[in-house]
Parts: sequence; structure tokens; C-alpha cells
Amino acid sequence: MAASNTRQPHGLSRRDFARMVTVGGAASWFVGGQPWTRPVEALPQTPAMPDEAFWSAVRDQFVMPRDLGVLNAANLCPSSAPVLDALFENTRDMDRDPSPQNRVKMGEGKETTRQIIADFLRVTPEEILITRNTSEASNMVSSGVHLGEGDEIVLFADNHPSNKRAWESKSERYGFTIKELPNPNPHPGPEYYIKAVTDAITPRTRVVAITHLTSTVGDLMPAKEICRIAREREVLTLLDGAQTFGLLDVDLSDIQPDFYSGSAHKWPCGAKEAGVLFVNQRSQDKIWPTILSAYSGRVGISRTHEGFGQRDEPAIIAFGEALKLQTKVGRQAIEKRSQQLAQLVIKELGRVDGVTVWTSPDPSRSSAVVSFLPGNLDLRKLSAALYENDRIACATRGGQDRGGLRFSPHFYNLQSEVERGIAAVKKYMAQGV
Ligand SMILES: Cc1ncc(COP(=O)(O)O)c(C=O)c1O
Repeated sequence: MAASNTRQPHGLSRRDFARMVTVGGAASWFVGGQPWTRPVEALPQTPAMPDEAFWSAVRDQFVMPRDLGVLNAANLCPSSAPVLDALFENTRDMDRDPSPQNRVKMGEGKETTRQIIADFLRVTPEEILITRNTSEASNMVSSGVHLGEGDEIVLFADNHPSNKRAWESKSERYGFTIKELPNPNPHPGPEYYIKAVTDAITPRTRVVAITHLTSTVGDLMPAKEICRIAREREVLTLLDGAQTFGLLDVDLSDIQPDFYSGSAHKWPCGAKEAGVLFVNQRSQDKIWPTILSAYSGRVGISRTHEGFGQRDEPAIIAFGEALKLQTKVGRQAIEKRSQQLAQLVIKELGRVDGVTVWTSPDPSRSSAVVSFLPGNLDLRKLSAALYENDRIACATRGGQDRGGLRFSPHFYNLQSEVERGIAAVKKYMAQGV
């Protein structure tokens, strides 16, 4: 397989590359007019107390221009340079020689990624399915668990369509019922959710489906306790991890859901169209495969449930590189950094007259997804002004319950970018947009 961390930028010979590094030293250098980043080897070891200089070196692993502050991790993260390299080099390798002989190593690369994902989530490769994204993974559960008339599932109202709409559609088709529980705002605390699930479960309940961290207002759910309550009552749990995989130092051996779904292109900063479904060993006989084709995985449940036909293996290999970079930086350090940046947003915007922050300031009830209503300002105009005038990218949540803007900072953001975003919102609140 093409060595994924070897820096071989487009069109440059190794000698050109060496010359540029020598001339440029550790500084950024350019390929085809585009700024590229420092080699991953230049990333220093994470200090015990990482400072802005360290996070600046982390940012150098990404190809976003320095003047752009992207506070939108909950939607789509940039791929880091090691990921782009792995994607490019393996794609080029495969297209230079698409023979079955040359592609054997791509299958091996997929299995290597499976092991990396398993280590990352602290489970076994036998429990990992490599999917296209969270949507596909969650739908494999809502389609794959055998449910019918008389069965019931418990769902929170604040769920992504890949969970909520998917369960609703399947309930119409198969006749099971949905018990929907509210997500009050502000976050009422973990005890509220634990009690709500405990009270909702009946002898007919088969599945509890929750979102670990909501993408709307960034409510963190007490996943471990809810999974325990469900497990004690022999009810299956689906934990939508789209907003926690690659953000929190998730340990599935501790949380023990039956199923956990996630996407590579969100917080892990991996390639697009790669994701994961964890299927707990104890629950593997409770789920049918929903897609059956060739080229399944080689171990555990992937042998029966991952025959998806031809895959984009370079993207899957690049997914593994993304998790390696996060492991190198440090999972705890990433979780803490993102939360610190988010806390800054919550604190500063919470003080602005007219701004309503929907996200809990309590770090045990939120993480790095922050939503706020900027008074009466026109959201579309505000988001355009932030991007064009202040070079801040974020999500707009217009017309919805607890709508507004969403800032979701991650480990590639500098504090100065977050401060620029906050200052810009303050400016538009004072002078209009
Ligand atoms: C909570 C949640 N679940 C699922 C998804 C779907 O993710 P994907 O588009 O990667 O399938 C999202 C996307 O934003 C999300 O926020």
C-alpha cells in the first residue's frame, strides 16, 4: 500500500520536495498556488498543558487558509493533510493499477482501519462495521432489528432525521409504535433523562434510541446510565455518536450501548463517505443485515453485515489516518480544547444584551456544540456577513425550534478565531447587519 504518511505532493519529485523543505524550513510552502501544511512529523508532542503555539502547529496540519475560521465541526470538518495524502496516494495507486492483484492491499488497508477504529472506541474489530456515514449506520439498526405490531421503541424528540424520521418511517411500515420523549431547554440535567427513560420503558419496549450529543443545541445525554437502565431491562440501545465520535474520548467498553453510529467526516476529520457502526458482541444475533452483496469484511460481524459491494477503500484507509492523528494529538487534549473554546463562546455571548444562548454552560451537560439566537438579526444575512466580512464559517438554524446560529469549534481552531467570531457577533448586535 502507498505509505500514507509519506509526503508526496502533486507533481513534485522527491528532490523538488526536499529542496522546498530545505528552502522553506518548517514554514508553510505552496503546491500549485495552494498553501500546504507542514509535514506531520513536524507536529510536536502534545505538552501537558498545550498552549496556543501547540494548537497553531496542529492547525498547520490542515489546508484551510489562515484567514478563515471554520467553527462548523458539527456539520463537516476539514480533512487533515495526512488524510488527504492517504486518500490521494491510495487513489492514485489504485487507478494506476486497478488489477485484482494490486487491490489486495486495499482490502488489507480496510482491515487495518477496522482495527484502528476498534482501538479508538476501545472495543474489538469483530464488533466494527465500516459504513458510509452515521445515517447509514443508524438506518442499519432501524431496518435490521426485527420489530412489529405490539413492539415499542423510545425516542427523544430532538433527534437527527437519520434516527427520528427513519424510525417513524419504519414504524409506519412494520407496525411498531414510538414513544417520543421531550428534550426540554435549558438542559434539565442528567437525572431528568435517566428518569424519563426509566419511566418510559414498558415490557413492550425493544429499543431506546438516543443522540449522544444533540446537533441542535448541543445537549449531552447521560449515555452510560441510559444504556445501563435499558440493558437491565433487556432493551436494546442505539447511541447516535455523530457529534461525539472524534470529539469526546468515547469509551464504548464503558458506555456499553448495543449499537453506536458515527461519521468520519465530522469530528474525526477523516475522509467523506466513511463511517462506523459498532455492534456489541452480545447483540450481534439481534440484527439482520440490510445490504447484501460482495466484498464483506474479514472478521466478526463484518463478515455477514458489511458486504456492501465495491467500496472506496482509499477513503477508508484515510479514515484510519484521521484517527491516528487524533490519537497522536491526544483524545483527552482534543476533548478539553474543544470544550474550552465552546465555553468561551457560551460565556462571552451569554453576556451580550439580546443574545439567547440555548446551550448549557454546565460542562457536564454540553461539549463543543453551541447554539444561540442573536436577537432579531436576520440569520441568513448575519451568517453571510460573518463569512464575507469576518471570515467566520458557521451553521445557521433558521425557522426551527431554538433556532439561531451554531458555533462548533474543534481542535484545529485557534482561540483567536473563536474570539473573532464572538467579536463579530457583538459588533452586529450593536450596529445591525
Ligand atoms: C446527531 C446526528 N446524527 C446523524 C447525522 C448524520 O450524519 P451523516 O450525514 O454523516 O450521516 C448528523 C449530521 O449532522 C447528526 O448531527
